[in-house]
Amino acid sequence: MSGNFYIATMGCQMNDYDSDYLAQLLQSSGYKPVEQPNSADLILINTCTVRAKPQQKAYSLLGRMVALKKKKPSLIIGMLGCIAQQEGKNLFKRFPELDLVLGTRELERIEEFLKKIEIDRDRVVATELDRNPRSFAGKNGYYKGRVKSYISIMEGCNNFCSYCIVPYVRGREVSRAPRDIMKEAQHLVGQGVKEITLLGQNVNSYRWNEGEELDFPGLLHKLNRIPGLKRIRFTTSHPKDLSDDLIKCFGELEKLCPHIHLPVQSGSNKILKRMNRGYSRENYLNLVKKLRSARSDMAITSDLIVGFPGETEEDFHLTIDLIKKIGFDNTYSFKYSDRQGTRAENMDGKLPENAKGARLAELQGLQKQITLEKNRALKGCQVDVLVEGKSKKGGQMTGRTGGNKIVNFPSDNNNIGIIVKVVIKDALANSLRGELVQEPAPQAG
Ligand code: 5AD
Ligand code: SF4
Repeated sequence: MSGNFYIATMGCQMNDYDSDYLAQLLQSSGYKPVEQPNSADLILINTCTVRAKPQQKAYSLLGRMVALKKKKPSLIIGMLGCIAQQEGKNLFKRFPELDLVLGTRELERIEEFLKKIEIDRDRVVATELDRNPRSFAGKNGYYKGRVKSYISIMEGCNNFCSYCIVPYVRGREVSRAPRDIMKEAQHLVGQGVKEITLLGQNVNSYRWNEGEELDFPGLLHKLNRIPGLKRIRFTTSHPKDLSDDLIKCFGELEKLCPHIHLPVQSGSNKILKRMNRGYSRENYLNLVKKLRSARSDMAITSDLIVGFPGETEEDFHLTIDLIKKIGFDNTYSFKYSDRQGTRAENMDGKLPENAKGARLAELQGLQKQITLEKNRALKGCQVDVLVEGKSKKGGQMTGRTGGNKIVNFPSDNNNIGIIVKVVIKDALANSLRGELVQEPAPQAG
């Protein structure tokens, strides 16, 4: 097979990882990547349906790609990921020009399906969910030149939060074999990768018990021993499964970055219950206390939903109060949107869009202020920065602190992939500016 391919990726890091994997498969079977859909023979749209907005974006992109096919009938178009999983063959009714609908656990069969489409000019839909996680044998070369990379350690989710589509489109939780994870990590480090982010819908419930018994803290201990690997991160953690053993890892493992993304969703116990989250506001505050005593420089980020069905002004102000009490380094916040087939879709007490919009604006205004204050508190401090590359601004390099904050600093050094010491001179809303600490020159004699 040959030709040019273009992949558009929407949504979460999981989709970025999946698109990377697809790109590897396609390149090894003879396709070449291109930057623009206009010059592609194969266009794949890797979609997200977690909220209404990314879903609309995917459909509007698909509409534009279908228009390209009218000018170039040989073009092959595939819809992948969560929308593909949810809609299946219904997508062909709305978009008859579509050739391929590929669900979330069928990616590794792409070559087989493309052959079928190219040879038989037939459409393919594959949305089987009961498959094991893919075995990502090391593919040489693809990661060359990257400083950081993702590794998927589990797929799916069993939690069924009442607003969430993920368990329906990503299937049940399955953990990946530790030997495959270690093999991929070692391969990446061999390719020059310095930082690995472990991915899963709920990494805290990672568990392996075939032959070797391993939980998530155990996996972190194993990865921490890989020579040449400098930093480990993970996402996402569910507060109800954040164990004391995992919290302890932050104090014990020198490669584990002092940052946790711990979605709280709401500060009201009534709403948390309706969301089926399995913890209370008090439980969450207690976790934050423990995390900060494991590491005083712990950065905590979170996800929040405003305007969940039944959320009163009082509930919303409990969320605002929680944000102030904790002082998150950053948050991602969203207006609640109905997802087809979830329990919340049928709940009463839905809020009008303008009320949700007003709450979101208030929350985001507050968070902006807190993030800036947190950034300003770093002024004058010396931080470790893993250099990722040249900043968009000329003459500057860019990287991140262990707490995941972006730092730009002037340097003409080629220090990509190295952890350097930087003193923070200035704090902006989304980044820090600093100066390299000059290492004293070795003394003669
Ligand atoms: N409406 C709004 N936000 C949602 N999220 C998940 N489902 C919905 C929904 N129906 C948010 C949650 C989750 C993040 C990935 O997306 O905050 O943590
Ligand atoms: Fe969705 Fe809840 Fe699972 Fe996260 S833990 S993916 S919010 S169901």
